[in-house]
Amino acid sequence: MTWEMVDEGWGRKAADFASLSEPANSREYTFVHHRLGVGGGDRLLDMACGSGLAIELARIRGATCAGIDASERLIAVARDRNPDSDIRVGDMNATGWDDASFDVITSFRGIWGTTPDAVDEAHRLLPAGGRLAMTVWGNVGKSPGAWMLQPLRWATDEKVANQANMVALGRPGVGEAFLESRGFDASERFEVPFVFEFPDPVTYARGLASMGPAYEAIQSVGEEDFLIRAEALAEQHVRPGLPLRGEIQLFGYIGTKR
Ligand SMILES: C[S@@+](CC[C@H](N)C(=O)[O-])C[C@H]1O[C@@H](n2cnc3c(N)ncnc32)[C@H](O)[C@@H]1O
Repeated sequence: MTWEMVDEGWGRKAADFASLSEPANSREYTFVHHRLGVGGGDRLLDMACGSGLAIELARIRGATCAGIDASERLIAVARDRNPDSDIRVGDMNATGWDDASFDVITSFRGIWGTTPDAVDEAHRLLPAGGRLAMTVWGNVGKSPGAWMLQPLRWATDEKVANQANMVALGRPGVGEAFLESRGFDASERFEVPFVFEFPDPVTYARGLASMGPAYEAIQSVGEEDFLIRAEALAEQHVRPGLPLRGEIQLFGYIGTKR
């Protein structure tokens, strides 16, 4: 798949993704920004920025922000939220910004073991001492909220295998070795809070259906079936008076360019 095809899955429900799914990620964004000490004067790039909530939160902390994502329709939301930021539709593996344009680069579940070129690109875009922070899934299957991502496994076996490869970086030592091998000192690996929250099964199904990997499942089972089955799954987890809530294990790495 080329980067130009990413929008087909990620962009088709951009407004749903931005307003139903992405807000739950604010725990992750805030935690990582805080850990990095993001603040006034920082030139920050968010790689695979999606619909730009992380950029909005970094801006609130005073950073001058830029972003790039392959999905044109997610970028439309990111620009709407951050009209004065330099936000581009493009490939995170070859962004077009000049060398050492940023002090800090973040990527929230955007850089995977399958995307080493993006780490090389981040390396080029930072000065020596600049920092790259990235988050990757941990053991999703053993997480309390594992059921919430179960519908993504309704994709074809081939697509599910690819999803498994994409999470390899979460294993102890793997992410550190990956960053070390690409010119970063990766001293920090830490657990990052991540929670999905939805008010009810219908909103859960709709929110989940807006995510790129869900599209792979939808192509297998059809949209209507996907929504019906996801709603039925969530019904089993309803707690009266409380939102549906599922914590998923997520790890973060901070690499400093040598
Ligand atoms: C798991 S989502 C994470 C999005 C965002 N960081 C967030 O926290 O919601 C992965 C993102 O990577 C983007 N993406 C995939 N391949 C890309 C590429 N080659 N260049 C730029 N963005 C890409 C998708 O469009 C999608 O927004």
